[in-house]
Amino acid sequence: RWATHGKPNKVNAHPHFDTHHTLAVVHNGIIENHDALRRDLKEKGAIFVSDTDTEVIAHLIADFYQGDLLKAVQQAVPLLKGAFAIALMHREHPDQIIAIAHETPLIVGIGQDETFISSDANAFSQYTKEVVYLNNDEIAVIKANKLDVYDVHNKPVAVERHRISETSGDIAKGHFETYTLKEIHEQPRSIHNALLSRTVEDYGTAFFDEIDFDHNELLAVKRILILACGTSWHAGYVASYLIEDMARIPVQVEISSEYRYKNPIVPPDTLVIAISQSGETADTIAAVKEIKAKAAKVLAICNVQGSTLTREADACIFLRAGPEIGVCSTKAFTSQVVVLALFSLMMARMRHMSKQEGQAFLEGLQTLPEKVQQVLDNSYLIEEIAKKYAHYQNFFFLGRRYMYPTSLEGALKLKEISYINANGYPAGEMKHGPIALINEDCPTVALCANKFTFEKLLSNLMEIKARNGKVIAIAEQDEKGLQNIADEIIWIPPTIDELAAIPSTIATQLLAYYIAKERGADIDQPRNLAKSVTVE
Ligand code: G6P
Repeated sequence: RWATHGKPNKVNAHPHFDTHHTLAVVHNGIIENHDALRRDLKEKGAIFVSDTDTEVIAHLIADFYQGDLLKAVQQAVPLLKGAFAIALMHREHPDQIIAIAHETPLIVGIGQDETFISSDANAFSQYTKEVVYLNNDEIAVIKANKLDVYDVHNKPVAVERHRISETSGDIAKGHFETYTLKEIHEQPRSIHNALLSRTVEDYGTAFFDEIDFDHNELLAVKRILILACGTSWHAGYVASYLIEDMARIPVQVEISSEYRYKNPIVPPDTLVIAISQSGETADTIAAVKEIKAKAAKVLAICNVQGSTLTREADACIFLRAGPEIGVCSTKAFTSQVVVLALFSLMMARMRHMSKQEGQAFLEGLQTLPEKVQQVLDNSYLIEEIAKKYAHYQNFFFLGRRYMYPTSLEGALKLKEISYINANGYPAGEMKHGPIALINEDCPTVALCANKFTFEKLLSNLMEIKARNGKVIAIAEQDEKGLQNIADEIIWIPPTIDELAAIPSTIATQLLAYYIAKERGADIDQPRNLAKSVTVE
């Protein structure tokens, strides 16, 4: 359980009950006015046992209940403020579950004599591919072989069934010890899938079947705004370098949770790209809604078909990475970068990039799966280094240009799964403060795979050595000059600077993975984290 209110312990774990245990509730989201409701309900005699906001839902519905459960739900729900998906059962109606969602996703899976409810179709995709997406404030009355849906005015709604893609069922761990390791190893294939039938070698360009913007609209784009959270934000950051370098279009990258509370300035001819693996991140969806109110076009880059973001956006490019189960994002990140690289190429070729330059870039992209495989084949070397460094409590990840967002992503992976304090930093900025932290107890992971700034990075690493800091370099095979500086070198196959984020990231994923493993952490489900953050 990812706790919003109260500690993640047994008492606060769902389901929650009313005083007489007649009603059981599970809930995803936040009830913002739970304090006021709790006070009122206590005055009426309700006895609360947990610290959660969820428990008020059970007491509130029980307070309205007079034999008709649906009616009690309809009376109670308008009093709840916040974003929530709720499923509940009542002792007197043992064959049914009532579910309702307000500003947060809820999906019903229709099986053979069985019905499922979840915020994420991956949870039941191995049992059924037939789904119904509940619209905001619709109430579903669910039985094993029957689904009735009502709108806010209590009118029955005709349900529309959708089919989720076949690959969404591919959630077996296989011979891997964790989903995360499996997903790291899937990357040669997921990158291949992201490229599949999207390249035009003869013209040195890319295209996407899914985009229904027309050519003139894309040509009219003068600015790009990227919105995302977490790892997806890092992919967007890499893309800002790609798009500016290749297509010469100015790019602004924003963290959705900050952007949604700005009163944004959106000049005309701005294209908005919203990136989200799950398509359900509440902050990104809210930022998209805000920007749509300003009449901007939104292109989503997403992994999950039918997700809220894909329904909000004007157009969507899918990652085709298959389900990502491990809480920390791995294969989705590299697929996002690949899709954004294809998009940058397409935009560049529409403008001034020559066919030959486009073809050379495509060649770089096409060779990525095999280069990624080479990094994976060296996992055992990375594991040895990880074992040596797993006891440190602080790490820096440094890089310049494309390696700067790559360093942010590397540091985030380490934080998420090993609970080590790790900071990603632009190498040139170290001297403005952070270098004060460098000593023999704080190793630096140096991301060296940008040829353009390699010499500059070497000077930064010497400054670290001079302060007794250990250096683990991730560098391209033919790079010279590191031997006397780095304590460890993880060699990766060379690629062009624009694509170096991919092999470098795979190396940081493996390093974080094996450090976390050495420390005995729960890698697939790190503490305090959730896969899709559908609340603010
Ligand atoms: C959560 C996950 C992260 C992810 C972020 C954004 O915090 O734990 O791994 O990067 O959400 O998710 P999204 O689905 O929007 O890419």
